[in-house]
Amino acid sequence: MKRSLTGIQTTGVPHLGNYLGAIRPALEHASEFESFYFMADYHSLNSIKDAGQRLESMYQIAATWLACGLNPEKTHFYRQSDVPQIFELATILAAFMPKGLLNRAHSYKDKVAKNLEAGRPADDDVNVGLFTYPVLMAADILLFHPHIVPVGKDQKQHVEMCAEVARVINNTYGNELLTIPKAKFSKQMQVLGLDGRKMSKSYGNTIPLFSPSKKLRKLVMKIKTNSQTVDEPKDPENCSVFALYEHFSTPEQQADLAQKYRAGGMGWGEAKQILFEVIEREVADKRKIYDEIIGDKAYLDKVLADGAERVRPLAQRNLDILRKAMGFAS
Ligand code: TRP
Repeated sequence: MKRSLTGIQTTGVPHLGNYLGAIRPALEHASEFESFYFMADYHSLNSIKDAGQRLESMYQIAATWLACGLNPEKTHFYRQSDVPQIFELATILAAFMPKGLLNRAHSYKDKVAKNLEAGRPADDDVNVGLFTYPVLMAADILLFHPHIVPVGKDQKQHVEMCAEVARVINNTYGNELLTIPKAKFSKQMQVLGLDGRKMSKSYGNTIPLFSPSKKLRKLVMKIKTNSQTVDEPKDPENCSVFALYEHFSTPEQQADLAQKYRAGGMGWGEAKQILFEVIEREVADKRKIYDEIIGDKAYLDKVLADGAERVRPLAQRNLDILRKAMGFAS
């Protein structure tokens, strides 16, 4: 059976981008793969220092996976920080990751560019953990030999770096040592946020997946559009409302709405209401389950402890194979 692995950073409330980019596609194919889905809590340490905030986000993400249908009996479901083998592997990988690759990582480069733009020193507020983020992510992945990594497009570069470091190690110690992973994207299109840019916590333009219905509607109504009047024909091609609609609708529904756009006579309020309704239809039942389990921390702790306990022996076995190949054990 082929393997699938993905993680979500515990930096905030899960939003529609997490759901569409990782959670929904990962769960859609969970039964065809041996799956590893985890909360990347050590990754969040680079940006979040507040303990309570990290823990709360960790629970929210775990509850979201479960509410969306993850079966912890069938899927390896764990908290990254419960699997120390990942961090040992990260130390190993650091010795093989070309620094030049890390220099080119988008998240690091963007932060440096922002600093320079603002007249600050290039590395202002840049910690080494941010710089080596892709190394830790490669360890998350390579430890479990997944074939595919379901992620949003923004993670493409990270998965490519991971594949690159795996190739270097295979070239040095033997071709079969590590599985070369491939990023798997759900749709060609990025999930756009309230302001029309990529939906991302760092832009503050996200729509939380399990906002109460009223709040969800309010947020959808806030999606930025142009100032065309009700009567004017509208272009579905370059529209955040339509782009989101595509993730929640059938091709027939999309053709219908596209036609309404082009015909004119539909205002933005109406288009957004149509969008809200398809999102609400998809999330309403899941939200109910979420609201129940997010209040039951003992249950969540138990599920995560069980998941970690089951995955650690496998992690150790895989790590031992590498350690042996590299001369740390006989
Ligand atoms: N970088 C991912 C994100 O920000 C989270 C992540 C950490 C991840 N480790 C991973 C994703 C391993 C896939 C595989 O969303």
